[in-house]
Amino acid sequence: MPVYVEDHPLIRHKLGLMREKDISTKDFRDLASEVARLLTYEATQDLETETQVIQGWAGDVEVERIKGKKITIVPILRAGLGMMDGVIDLIPSAKVSVVGFYRNEETLQPVQYYVKTASAMSERTALILDPMLATGGTLIATIDLLKEAGCKNIKGLFLVAAPEGIAKVEAKHPDVDIHVAAIDDRLNEVGYILPGLGDAGDKIFGTK
Ligand code: URA
Repeated sequence: MPVYVEDHPLIRHKLGLMREKDISTKDFRDLASEVARLLTYEATQDLETETQVIQGWAGDVEVERIKGKKITIVPILRAGLGMMDGVIDLIPSAKVSVVGFYRNEETLQPVQYYVKTASAMSERTALILDPMLATGGTLIATIDLLKEAGCKNIKGLFLVAAPEGIAKVEAKHPDVDIHVAAIDDRLNEVGYILPGLGDAGDKIFGTK
């Protein structure tokens, strides 16, 4: 599974700001969107284009357009919503497929409680959005359901990932590309990434 750490100075700078203990909701939210935008730019470098002839100001001109049914973005509720605006800034026609999971406290397995996917999933590239790739359980469940819906081209965009989560996803879904702003040290005993960002959902939504 290719794992791309998008090691751009702007991404490193913005992620550094997000790690501040007392960051405001507004700043965290804005930065999550900005980093998501930069990750999207990097993660879509291999999109196929096709040539079209259009009428330009001085006559016919060949231009390139993104080929095919294009993209569905897949925010994982709820924190993934915090990355959506940044992605849509760059891909305004993207269809949004939303998924939600909760954790069964006995089995510790993710249980799906919401799913609404776009049409023609088998023809689209899916960009999964979640700020944190922690244990990998929810991501694996999301990839499982996207593959069942016919998706063949799946990428995940994350602000911060834990090595443990990456290894778990890699073992189950080696064909999925992972794009992250940073890979941190490890998970703590309750599944939070260290040094990480804390609870990204709470910080994006201003809850606690
Ligand atoms: N979810 C979060 O919001 N933060 C983590 O560190 C792990 C999972």
